[in-house]
Amino acid sequence: VEFHVSLVDRRDLAGEIYRQLRRAILDGRLRPGDALPPTRELAQRLSVSRTTVSVAYDRLNGEGFVISRVGAGTFVAEHVPSATRNDSRAVASLRARPIWDRLTHPATSTTPADFDFRTWVPDGNQFPYETWRRLIALELRAGAFVGGFSSDPAGHPALREAIVRHIGTSRGVIADPGDVTITNGAQQALDLVTRVLLSPGDRVAMEDPGYKGAVLLFESLGLKVTGVEVDAEGLVVDALPSDARLVYVTPSHQHPLGVAMSLSRRMALLDWAERHNAAVIEDDYDSEFRYGGRPVEPLKTLDTSGRVAFMGSFSKTMHPTLRLGFVVTPASLSKAVHAAKYVADYQTPLGAQAALAHLIDGGWFARHIRKTRTLYEARHDVIVRTLTAQFADHLTVLPSIAGLHVSATANALSPDEVGVAVERARDAGVAVPSLSMFRVTRPAQSGLVLGYGGIETERIPEGLRRLRRAFDQT
Ligand SMILES: Cc1ncc(COP(=O)(O)O)c(C=O)c1O
Repeated sequence: VEFHVSLVDRRDLAGEIYRQLRRAILDGRLRPGDALPPTRELAQRLSVSRTTVSVAYDRLNGEGFVISRVGAGTFVAEHVPSATRNDSRAVASLRARPIWDRLTHPATSTTPADFDFRTWVPDGNQFPYETWRRLIALELRAGAFVGGFSSDPAGHPALREAIVRHIGTSRGVIADPGDVTITNGAQQALDLVTRVLLSPGDRVAMEDPGYKGAVLLFESLGLKVTGVEVDAEGLVVDALPSDARLVYVTPSHQHPLGVAMSLSRRMALLDWAERHNAAVIEDDYDSEFRYGGRPVEPLKTLDTSGRVAFMGSFSKTMHPTLRLGFVVTPASLSKAVHAAKYVADYQTPLGAQAALAHLIDGGWFARHIRKTRTLYEARHDVIVRTLTAQFADHLTVLPSIAGLHVSATANALSPDEVGVAVERARDAGVAVPSLSMFRVTRPAQSGLVLGYGGIETERIPEGLRRLRRAFDQT
């Protein structure tokens, strides 16, 4: 490693080299396994004797920071002594606000499980790579970046119009492109609308169990979060706290239980919002994948008083790493949400927006959804059939006719016992989320949430066999 050592003060040269290298190891600029410069080379660079460098290296060696290998050189040790890490001064002087001690992002696993039933992944192998490459390449031509930051923070006009047509035909939502904001995933849509509407200390209500990403976001904004019971008709409107200023819901396919909110509940929720002067965010995150039944009218369509923001995502239909989502806001909020988008990050990458507009307008997007819907429906059916036939003593499958996951409640096992079964399954190569992970403020429910975006159809039976064994052993 070409490491910079600065010897301004020429007293205690060996001590200075030792201290600078030690600090670099402690703060991570030099990482385990990195090679230190050879003593001869560093000595020449610093115009010091080779012995001076050797003294510094010997001291680092003696304290366990580096290891010298004869003939190979000197390397940063794999395990730096931990007691000495505490004196890294930066750690003591800067502290995040207390809320960030509690909020952490989930551990990211780079090695997918052999049998992957996680809920937040679509099938990456189905992504239309060839078409996407071509459409992106079309955008990346000379002159593409001439506009710089002058483009509209609300998003590429062609994509906003394409989305209006898409949700108009697929969801019956009639929207004005001027009320659409393109966001970096639906998560950002949730962030922008919430920040525009609520102040720290305000209350937000949401379904419980519910979408954890929303809980973390609301808490980070200093909001009070109340989880509200969900029954067979969706969110129990009568249980809403009267001081909620915002209600966040997933009515077309409740996340994670899978129930669709009934029409009468939808009307009751809109009525409640009007009486309490509250706003509603309708998260339509995966309704493109429906396997039967008649879709219920979106809240956005039923809303007559301009209280509903309707958000959608291309994470399940395309891929979550694209970070493309959108929100249709009531006209009274659109200007503020566009400004919030500008303040947050100016705009969503323009080339990807234009490519997605082409994909929708050219019919590729609809074809892709048709193809993947057939695939996911087959997986949905295998899982539901197998769980019903072979897990009846352990689990009760909840009815669900859309999306990329099904949930099942445990008949007898407690959330902790399900946790043990989930761990056992993990050891057997099966990744499956426990229902208790989705708890908001109410007691955790006991069960599983099985995603089928990330597991090939033919691997599902073996995955479920191993899961069954994990349950039998618990
Ligand atoms: C219910 C729900 N809403 C919103 C999101 C956020 O989606 P995006 O990737 O578009 O930010 C997710 C992601 O998993 C989700 O499950």
